[in-house]
Amino acid sequence: MERTFIMVKPDGVQRNLVGSIISRFELKGFSLVGSKLLTVSNELAEAHYAEHKNRPFFGDLVNFITSGPVFAMVLEGDGVIAEARKMMGKTNPQEAMPGTIRGDFGIHMSRNVIHGSDSQESAQREISLFFRSDELVSYNKTI
Ligand code: CMP
Repeated sequence: MERTFIMVKPDGVQRNLVGSIISRFELKGFSLVGSKLLTVSNELAEAHYAEHKNRPFFGDLVNFITSGPVFAMVLEGDGVIAEARKMMGKTNPQEAMPGTIRGDFGIHMSRNVIHGSDSQESAQREISLFFRSDELVSYNKTI
């Protein structure tokens, strides 16, 4: 079953959006198989955003993501990587459609509430950066 990594960023945590965001994914039909509230270290932030290392906003991105707790989660379900990206909307909240998470909850590119993996490779890499395998569960639905 496909899995993806989702992170509610410090702005989303501070605005008490965690529950609403989990709820959207659960109502869609995706299952939570791992979650934690943590403060991201500089080392983890630089590893997570390594692909943006040479971008002018990299320093601000690392400063922001380490500035307060984030809520990291792993979601499971058919097509979850692409579907979660659709549900989050475009990276720039001003371009994200109403009804998407960023379209409904954000205004600025650098405070866009949520991150989600963009491919199978990113999902595997990001899940293993944030979670040990024994922090993730596998279960069959019985109801
Ligand atoms: P995210 O999905 O977490 O992946 C990288 C992040 O970099 C992105 O969300 C934005 O928050 C941020 N980002 C991307 N482009 C820019 C930009 N041009 N200026 C500032 N931040 C950006």
